[in-house]
Amino acid sequence: MILLTGGLGYLGSHMAAQIIEQGHEVVLVDNLSNSKIAVLDRLSQLTGRDISFVKIDVRDKAAMQEVFSQYPITQVVHFAGSKSVNESIQQPLDYYDNNVNSLISLLHVMKEAQVKTIVFSSTAAIYGEPESLPIPESARQAPITPYGRSKQICEQILQDFSNAEQGWKIAVLRYFNPAGAHSSGIIGEVPNGIPNNLVPYIAQVARDERPFLQVFGNDYNTIDGTGVRDFIHVQDLIDGHTKALAWLSTQPQAFEVLNLGRGEGVSVKQMLDAFSKAVGHELPYKVVARRDGDSASVYADASRANCLLGWQATRTVDEMAIDTWRFYEKLA
Ligand code: WQD
Repeated sequence: MILLTGGLGYLGSHMAAQIIEQGHEVVLVDNLSNSKIAVLDRLSQLTGRDISFVKIDVRDKAAMQEVFSQYPITQVVHFAGSKSVNESIQQPLDYYDNNVNSLISLLHVMKEAQVKTIVFSSTAAIYGEPESLPIPESARQAPITPYGRSKQICEQILQDFSNAEQGWKIAVLRYFNPAGAHSSGIIGEVPNGIPNNLVPYIAQVARDERPFLQVFGNDYNTIDGTGVRDFIHVQDLIDGHTKALAWLSTQPQAFEVLNLGRGEGVSVKQMLDAFSKAVGHELPYKVVARRDGDSASVYADASRANCLLGWQATRTVDEMAIDTWRFYEKLA
């Protein structure tokens, strides 16, 4: 049985759908701080299955020990965490407490339960301003926000823990820019409050919930002056997770860090144009000042994941826009 922490979140819910469809048993935990209990019903609607869910903060060791005693867990995917770059600058203590202490608490409970396989959600934010492109896993790490630094600390904890223990199977997956939604349109990304990330913001403009997209700068040294990112469809990202779990199960012990990106830079304007095409009309935008902390261009060298896992992102930017819009169009 696979435990998904953050199981009702954007990535967690898409992972739950995929592994249930693959015939695996799953149990979800989530503290609902950045997700909605309604997602559980949507997952049941999507999979036709009742799904085990426990409302828990992963830092609650006793509650997590209870979950491990109740369910025959064999592998863990640890999605739970805070992930807003801007918010982390305003609330560093919350970010270090949530992201770092959740991992430490989880590893203690897993060790007691002798469950030794974990896939960890990390991020491209760990690289900071890239020195060269595309970015390999060996690139310099220079995170510039508490969010990125909290994930860097977590990676170091996992490395040190792996060195100290026997038989642990650990995969650290560095996400670039997740986007898109399940092709059914039943689950997707629904951020709380005003979205920090580009794609959900564009989706809200498309729904007339926002008057226009603020484009944070068009004077970068990029194809059209707007920021360039490695947008990767959430389904491709989840495929990377299921392949990582499968690969870990073939290893006696492992510690691997892998980039999950498409390996192609796409600009803000190109993403906006893809969305306008999906929606069927031009979406309004205004160019404003650059956002602090933004890089001009960020995109992955994902060849290591391709080589080790036989994984390759296949879905296009148009598919990300179409799938996102199909989900948002249906949202009440
Ligand atoms: C993308 C581009 C903005 C909003 C962050 C995290 C990273 C990962 C993905 C978790 C930039 C521009 C954005 C808007 C805009 N998260 N933009 N107007 O900052 O690349 O990465 O989310 O793993 O760790 O750092 O994503 O979507 O915020 O920005 O012009 O309203 O869109 O300037 O060029 P980012 P983003």
